[in-house]
Amino acid sequence: MKFFVETFGCQMNEADGREMGRALLARGLIPADKPEEADCILVNTCAVRQHAEDKAASALGRLAAWRAADPSRILILAGCAAERWGQAVKRRFPYVDLVVGAKSLPNFDECLDGKLPRPVFDGPREEKDAWGHYSDERLLPGETLSAFVTVMRGCNYSCSYCIVPSVRGREVYRPAGSILSEVRRKAALGVKTIMLLGQTVNSYRPSDGGDISDFAGLLRAVSAVPGVERVEFMSAHPFYVNEAMVRAMADSEKVARWIHLPVQSGSDDVLKRMRRNYTRGDFLGKADLLRSAMPGIFVTTDFIVGFPGETEEDFQRTLSLFDEGGFNGAFVFKYSARPGTPSADWADDIPETIKEDRHARLLGAVMARSTRKAPAGLV
Ligand code: 5AD
Ligand code: SF4
Repeated sequence: MKFFVETFGCQMNEADGREMGRALLARGLIPADKPEEADCILVNTCAVRQHAEDKAASALGRLAAWRAADPSRILILAGCAAERWGQAVKRRFPYVDLVVGAKSLPNFDECLDGKLPRPVFDGPREEKDAWGHYSDERLLPGETLSAFVTVMRGCNYSCSYCIVPSVRGREVYRPAGSILSEVRRKAALGVKTIMLLGQTVNSYRPSDGGDISDFAGLLRAVSAVPGVERVEFMSAHPFYVNEAMVRAMADSEKVARWIHLPVQSGSDDVLKRMRRNYTRGDFLGKADLLRSAMPGIFVTTDFIVGFPGETEEDFQRTLSLFDEGGFNGAFVFKYSARPGTPSADWADDIPETIKEDRHARLLGAVMARSTRKAPAGLV
């Protein structure tokens, strides 16, 4: 039997899709090159914007006929949108065989083996080592030179626009020993680039009592693993960029001279209502800290335009921050109200035409700047 994993959303989701793929591999399924060749399709969904959810829903809709054509086929729905949709998926997509919400990923094995009620939402239902499933040695296609290593799950922030804390839960840190043994195993299999992943990866602070107590320590330890040639990480939160982290980056030539540091807006008023926990000035200070230790470091970011109440003046501050911050690249997103988040209670008062216009203007500035070569691994 062949399987295919279709993932939407961020690198964290991509990594989760691979972990679930490994669980299928462990049960004797073989990776298919394309979905048309698969007997088992896993759709790993994203909920961060309405558009991401819509894409996942239409992928599932297209698979209705595929599932109906052969009763031996298996359709699995996983991830953040599955978690957010909850019990409604049974009504919307009754032909799906197994539904595993984002919080239940650590129990994916039990879900597959039918030991847990289906569908499974809202976190693990069985007491177990939440990181045990990362001990599988198998590499999947595409992982031979560069691999993701998840170091934490969840997010303790409560940015007013963001669905992530509710679908992924609070921060849980993976013990450093478990991370390092995965890195060693991957390096021994020939993997050269390790990308450390977490929703706010640099808030990493494990409680397993070892020598490594923070992200700086983790960076040093991962860089020291024989065979590892490049260490990247995603996504950093500006609040946790500190001297120790910057020193650890600068001290190792293996750590990429690149940081993806989402800023979201250049307006202090908007940042405050977004509940980002820093000001424009704080952010620029962090960028200076990075650049003074590592001149020429690539700094990329995310912006949201059209947040509730964003004035033209606020937007001008975002445009000027793009210049002042010296960013090497940026993703620009139009604000999308997510049900259940604090900002969804506020009027989504920026008309779509204005959102489009701000998106185009900021993206124009980003494109005009990004003529310089991006570092490997930057998407
Ligand atoms: N609307 C638009 N963009 C969003 N992001 C997160 N939530 C929303 C939302 N509700 C963007 C942020 C984040 C990136 C992963 O997605 O810029 O950094
Ligand atoms: Fe999407 Fe956020 Fe889930 Fe990643 S964590 S898949 S960006 S909703």
